Amino acid sequence: MRSAARRRVAPEAAARPVDELSDEEARAELARLAAEIAHHDQLYYAKNAPEISDAAYDELRRRNSAIEARFPELIRADSPSRRIGAAPAAGFAKVTHRVPMLSLENAFAEQDVRDFFAGIRNFFRRTATEALVAEDVVAVMCEPKIDGLSAALRYEDGRLVAGATRGDGITGEDVTANIRTLKTVPERLHGRGWPDIVEIRGEVYLERAGFFAINKEREADGEPIYANPRNVAAGSLRQLDPAVTARRPLKFFAYHWGETSRPFARTHEEALRRFIEWGFTVSDHANLCRGVDAVLAYYRDIGERRSQLPYDIDGVVYKINDLDLQRRLGFVSRAPRWALAHKFPAEQAQTVLRDILISVGRTGTLTPVAMLEPITVGGVVVQRATLHNEDEIERKDVRKGDTVIVQRAGDVIPQIVGVVRHAESSRPFVFPDHCPVCGSLAVREEGMAARRCTGGLICAAQAVERLRHFVARDAFDIEGLGAKHIAEFWEDKLIRTPGDIFRLDASVIARREGWGEVSANKLIAAIDERRRIPLDRFINALGIPQVGQATARLLARHYRSLAHWRDAMERAQDPDSAAYAGLLDVHGIGRDMAADIVGFFAEPHNRAVLDDLAGAIEVVDYAAPAQAAQSPLAGKTIVFTGGLQSMSRSEAKARAETLGANVASSVSSKTDFVVVGADAGSKATRAAALGVKALDEAQWLELAGVSGAAG
Ligand code: IVH
Repeated sequence: MRSAARRRVAPEAAARPVDELSDEEARAELARLAAEIAHHDQLYYAKNAPEISDAAYDELRRRNSAIEARFPELIRADSPSRRIGAAPAAGFAKVTHRVPMLSLENAFAEQDVRDFFAGIRNFFRRTATEALVAEDVVAVMCEPKIDGLSAALRYEDGRLVAGATRGDGITGEDVTANIRTLKTVPERLHGRGWPDIVEIRGEVYLERAGFFAINKEREADGEPIYANPRNVAAGSLRQLDPAVTARRPLKFFAYHWGETSRPFARTHEEALRRFIEWGFTVSDHANLCRGVDAVLAYYRDIGERRSQLPYDIDGVVYKINDLDLQRRLGFVSRAPRWALAHKFPAEQAQTVLRDILISVGRTGTLTPVAMLEPITVGGVVVQRATLHNEDEIERKDVRKGDTVIVQRAGDVIPQIVGVVRHAESSRPFVFPDHCPVCGSLAVREEGMAARRCTGGLICAAQAVERLRHFVARDAFDIEGLGAKHIAEFWEDKLIRTPGDIFRLDASVIARREGWGEVSANKLIAAIDERRRIPLDRFINALGIPQVGQATARLLARHYRSLAHWRDAMERAQDPDSAAYAGLLDVHGIGRDMAADIVGFFAEPHNRAVLDDLAGAIEVVDYAAPAQAAQSPLAGKTIVFTGGLQSMSRSEAKARAETLGANVASSVSSKTDFVVVGADAGSKATRAAALGVKALDEAQWLELAGVSGAAG
């Protein structure tokens, strides 16, 4: 329950079964639900005076989603399902990106760039396409990588209807009102020929001159100055008062797009030309290059002219120009295979290392942290840097009091590159062999770089870090429950396990120092907001070693529901089981990771955490992205055997995964399809014996919706 007031009885919602609705009825019902849900959101969030129970409210949303699932073409622009919750008093409404906003793979060295292009050629190996993408001919659009924050602007019938931040790539914040204040964002698209629906993506940024002016003003007002233009751009776009945003000279560069009702270009270059016709600014420095050497020449040239540009750039972005090739290349987890960010080298500075502290992470790893005499590196003040592990300290012979070189590369945590000179009478650093927090022995396993605290459950540092991870942005994302609160609540035994979070009592918190009734109620409301969580976030929240956001997504996509995953992992305790083989079959999961995942379920206390949470939260089954949901391959297991004429194995696999299929390496009774290419061997025989449906290349292409794939 979000609050007692919500328990009051609901007026009955129209109760005709969704299966029986006609198009007309569905349309009317969606309109009614949108209005009704908006009304209740308003009462709940803005007036704090709900009229219906949580259950009745959830029922309205569920009905809305069920109708939308049956009639996807009727989904309204103002659909409640496109807003998770509504504008909470202290923030922005969340917006789910229909097409995820991806990040880019990074390259630092020239060789990384050459490897990237070799990888693309490999992807199309032995197909006619291979010649088109050979390293000396491939057409690549090169653009400066602007250091701001990305935004998505949705236009319907040529009018700007929504603007959102990237957020975590899946869910961003609705910043429409602020976006409208940018002069470089057209309210109506210029020219003609734009699709009815088109979402333009690009970077919101601030020129250096604007940045300095703002800092000068802040300094004069006695306010803390901003570290870099990107922070100001982010801070300005996320202002609750659009009037503040309007005073900041923010600009927008268009460089990509999301959902469109129809294609509008065949190449990236052409897309940029369209953007200009429609009234957007694109980078003056975007340039089409042919071949890797030309691309690298572009990088060096821009690097030299970097300081003359009016804005900060942290590298360049390469994009395969042909959009059909982009589509075929697809994505790996969170980044496209067809683009690469080539970063400029890190910036460095000298300073004095005052002390070396040891921090203990959620898996017990002891990490040495250098505490520095504050220094500005590439415009950002740096006071701490990571020293990685004890070998690194020994190798670099870093000691207290030393003068060291500090390096910063974009978002990367600052690092100590090396020692310039030791302090007088300094002695080598002795790495502790006991946990500085709980005092347990800290051991180093054979072949491991990290020393780990053996305190496990009794180590406060580990417990607190695990809980912090659990509520963090990529996991449960509980607003207002920061690292500091977790540590305090842990100390006072209010929160010892994840389940405790959902048992917090507002009246107890309200009595604590620094809290009051309003703030305590707000926290409980924020926690209640998160009682429904998508499976991938939930898996990430568990903090299984090596299982981050990307792997959590792979697992969610493969296993679909928590019950199914847990059941499989409990069976996978037996390394000879089909369940264990199934885990290894998930593309992207190797033996090492599998051991950690299975190991997590072997611990009774981890299973107890899951049992405890079961009563408090609802883990929502994985929902395939729109394209995949409608595909005949969604949720199916497919095996490829033998060579295909029209696409390489990598492309076939990528295509199948895009359409929501699981690609397995061996045939079993759970296999739905086997695609049999030339010279197929035992897998085809086994498939026939098991009665698995075999597809030839043409049938596969049809199923995959590939018409006339380059052959
Ligand atoms: S393309 C799927 N182009 O870099 C491709 N991104 O590290 C989407 N960025 O999130 C991005 N300049 O915020 C692209 N010319 C450019 C860019 C650019 C800056 C940012 C963007 C993105 C991040 C990835």
